[in-house]
Amino acid sequence: MCGIFAYLGKKKAQPILLDGLKRLEYRGYDSSGIAIFDGTKIEVVKKKGRISELIHLLGKKQLDGRVGISHTRWATHGIPSDENAHPHFDQLRHLSLVHNGVIENYQLLKQRLINLGHTFQSETDTEVLAHLIGHYYELGKEDDPTARLIQALKRSLKEISGTYGIALIHSEVPNLLVGARRGSPLVLGIGNEEYFLSSDVTAICPYAHKVVYLNDGDLVTISSETFDIQSLNKTNNGFEIRDVDQTEMSASLKGFPHYMLKEIYDQPETIRNAFRGRLIQEEATAKLGGLNMSPQELLRIERIQVIGCGSARHAGIVGEYLIESLAHIPVEVEFSSEFRYKNSPMDRHTVVIAVSQSGETADTLAAVKEAKRKGLKVLGICNRVGSSIARETEGGVFMHAGPEIAVAATKSFTSQVLIFTLLALLLGRLRFLSAREGHEIVEAIEALPDQVAEVIKLDPQVRELAKKYAHSKRFLLFGRQFQYGVALEGALKIKEVSYCSAEGNPSAELKHGIIALIDQFTPSIFLCPKDGVYDKNISNMEEIKARGGPIIAIATEKDDLVSKVADEVLYIPNAQEYLCPILTVIPLQLFAYHLAIILGKDVDKPRNLAKSVTVE
Ligand code: F6R
Repeated sequence: MCGIFAYLGKKKAQPILLDGLKRLEYRGYDSSGIAIFDGTKIEVVKKKGRISELIHLLGKKQLDGRVGISHTRWATHGIPSDENAHPHFDQLRHLSLVHNGVIENYQLLKQRLINLGHTFQSETDTEVLAHLIGHYYELGKEDDPTARLIQALKRSLKEISGTYGIALIHSEVPNLLVGARRGSPLVLGIGNEEYFLSSDVTAICPYAHKVVYLNDGDLVTISSETFDIQSLNKTNNGFEIRDVDQTEMSASLKGFPHYMLKEIYDQPETIRNAFRGRLIQEEATAKLGGLNMSPQELLRIERIQVIGCGSARHAGIVGEYLIESLAHIPVEVEFSSEFRYKNSPMDRHTVVIAVSQSGETADTLAAVKEAKRKGLKVLGICNRVGSSIARETEGGVFMHAGPEIAVAATKSFTSQVLIFTLLALLLGRLRFLSAREGHEIVEAIEALPDQVAEVIKLDPQVRELAKKYAHSKRFLLFGRQFQYGVALEGALKIKEVSYCSAEGNPSAELKHGIIALIDQFTPSIFLCPKDGVYDKNISNMEEIKARGGPIIAIATEKDDLVSKVADEVLYIPNAQEYLCPILTVIPLQLFAYHLAIILGKDVDKPRNLAKSVTVE
């Protein structure tokens, strides 16, 4: 959600900034811009639209300078336009600023500055912050311009409420790049006599060998020789310089036409990465050292509260069924955004599990902080090492799925479900689950990567189905028990990338209202592998068939009955019902992908969306 990339070093800044922006484009893509200091003044070029538009506008123009900032925007305040694109200047055009986050009191501050004679070029909250810092800089008494700028920044940051990750340069302080964060991510990259600031470590991987994940409240000043990090929060204690994690290396398309398809095809590997080294054959259980909890502590858990947004919450819903079935621990799944404002009763034996691919989702991060404030133990299931949620939580499990670039989550969902399976197995084996049952699950998990690869082979068949149903405006998805979360996830995928309306439902809810939507133009997609509710699903399909609704079923291989009821069947390999969600979701991901392509949509960058939602 908005990407910031900044550079200070000995090389020309422009190509590096543009390259960084391209790597961050998935975070927002309604406008972009760069600002470079050329030795006397700051030049800004910005443009509505994709980064390719900015590159087109720049043409052969090379802004000369070795320090600069850049931004790719996902609009919050002000429509996508050239004027609202970042970077923004202060009143005197000495300072240029890029920002990710939301300044909640910007209207008040703007009015104050207007009263002082300021004029604004945009509708953004960011421009107000640029003006405010510029205003305090002009008022500053310090002789040294660096000290004056830092003082002005500190004073301004104290006055704003809301969230920010910012980077700025100032023409009177030529060799200085400044960054700060509160609630929005910012990473410092250290290369050979060069420094970078980025919203995301992936974008600096090709350039930096060391990184510092800035903490909330950190302010970093970077000069050509060195950098300095001060904490504006009394609670922060220091920073850590880490080696760049190679798994964060920017992903390439590897010959696939889109990241979404590539990431669907990554799943045999990412599933394997999620359980590698985490299964103990002899004890028929899982080992999750990152939880930082002893068996005694794990045994004391009486209730689990899962929080997450979007796909992460859907994975949590599958996790609820897994943990309740295998470990008999009550689980509740809540939207992070609801949890943070809801006063749910919790006791000290409740453990909160925050699920987040990016580890930066603002609502989940805020919910984590709220749970911690209540004294609860909070664990994380995250993909991004070093992310805010990974650092805020006391322990957790990393997904090791590699960078997920497509806006629509695919491989992160299956990794999250797999991790819930490991957790359910671990908690179950500490309680009632027998060694025999444990063994069966361990074996089934080990068989999964090959089974996932089998399901991916359905791709051509799914593409044909998508073609056949591409005229449909609405899809209904049905699944129950372990498949309910999958139905929700499949519907979200269809909505996100094809913009068709899609609804996920527990199958049995059909007759409580949804059946009114059934007609010959509304396909129903049924998740009906051979599981405990198979017969019930077949009955629901019969009810739809009787009303003329087309049915696509995702069923277990060798199931002949289902093809008598459904119009189309996609067969997955035979698997334990606990593990079926990882298999059944893949045809849905492929279906959404092909539907979007057939309908001519930008599948990796769907309209209005952005990855990593760092605003509330
Ligand atoms: C769906 C999707 C979003 C995310 C949600 C949470 O395809 O990408 O719904 O799942 O924004 O994001 P994370 O997992 O990064 O917290």
